[in-house]
Amino acid sequence: MAILVLGGAGYIGSQMVKELVNKNEEVVVVDNLSRGHRYAVAQQAKFYEGDIRDTDFLSRVFTKESIDAVIHFCADSVVPESVVNPLKYFDNNVNGLIKLLEVMVQFDVKKLVFSSTAAVYGMPKTMPIKETDPTNPINPYGQSKLMMEQMMKWAEQAYGIQYVALRYFNVAGASLDGKLGENHSPETHLIPIVLEAAGGIRDKVQMFGNDYNTRDGYNVRDYVHVVDLVHAHYLSLAYLNNGGKSDIFNLGSKTGFTVKEIVEAAREITGQKIVAEDAPRRGGDPDELVADSTKAETILEWHPEHTNLKTIISTAFEWTKNKKSY
Ligand code: UFG
Repeated sequence: MAILVLGGAGYIGSQMVKELVNKNEEVVVVDNLSRGHRYAVAQQAKFYEGDIRDTDFLSRVFTKESIDAVIHFCADSVVPESVVNPLKYFDNNVNGLIKLLEVMVQFDVKKLVFSSTAAVYGMPKTMPIKETDPTNPINPYGQSKLMMEQMMKWAEQAYGIQYVALRYFNVAGASLDGKLGENHSPETHLIPIVLEAAGGIRDKVQMFGNDYNTRDGYNVRDYVHVVDLVHAHYLSLAYLNNGGKSDIFNLGSKTGFTVKEIVEAAREITGQKIVAEDAPRRGGDPDELVADSTKAETILEWHPEHTNLKTIISTAFEWTKNKKSY
């Protein structure tokens, strides 16, 4: 039986495929290559290029392969883009999940691990954020993921599909050998942008908004290493395989850094100057997002190993230098 990784050519999905292959699992990847890269998919995995909204395509994959469980990474996830183009998010994310659930029902596949997001919380009143805190998204991306969580809840009741929804905080870093990492065009996430500036790939970093309600006026985010994050999916599969009930978990580090602190840390770690300037706020950014991940630690037995900002930035910097050759 195989594990189907949707979006397995993307930044996080490709690390997932790598971990599963290393654990000798049979892996099938579906990706429409809109943001992912064929080179990033481990050779041991079977690859199908296509879009999950194409039900005929997806049904063909489920017909050919014996799928036991699905890990879903294939959503749009750029906060400011979702503010400008919300319908793209409701189509690809929400509509995509409807099609996936239909096919899972048809083929009697009952286990789903799902990438959700801290963006479901909106502007939380207390930090760190717990899973039981209110969800009030302030951008269409977060709204689409909350809708997807809710759809899975009802699909579980109606069809018995068990799911784990993992609410990621800010995922960063690269594989520990620096050979697999984030490669978007254009790049939108803070750490890769800062490191492109460190590596001479761009002139400067713009820091969006210096008047937020935080310790230095810049947004606070909780950065989690991609290798640790991916491991939580593996543990979630084990949890479902052992009869665990559908549930939602935060994945973060309990520590927040402001945009300015990230730039300063990157200067120190890379030894590069990194020009950074203040710029107007982007749309859809909450002041602060920091996770309480106690629930994942307790129930999934998730114990992140690479929480140090230095490891996150240095692995990502190694990758930034390597990615020029891809
Ligand atoms: N930022 C800058 N300059 C940049 C890019 C980003 O100042 O060039 C700032 C943003 O305004 C924000 C912070 O850096 O305050 C982090 O921004 P990212 O774009 O790296 O990440 P987001 O916090 O917008 O979103 C990420 C994921 C989402 C997820 C969210 C949860 O992309 O999918 O983390 O915390 F929902």
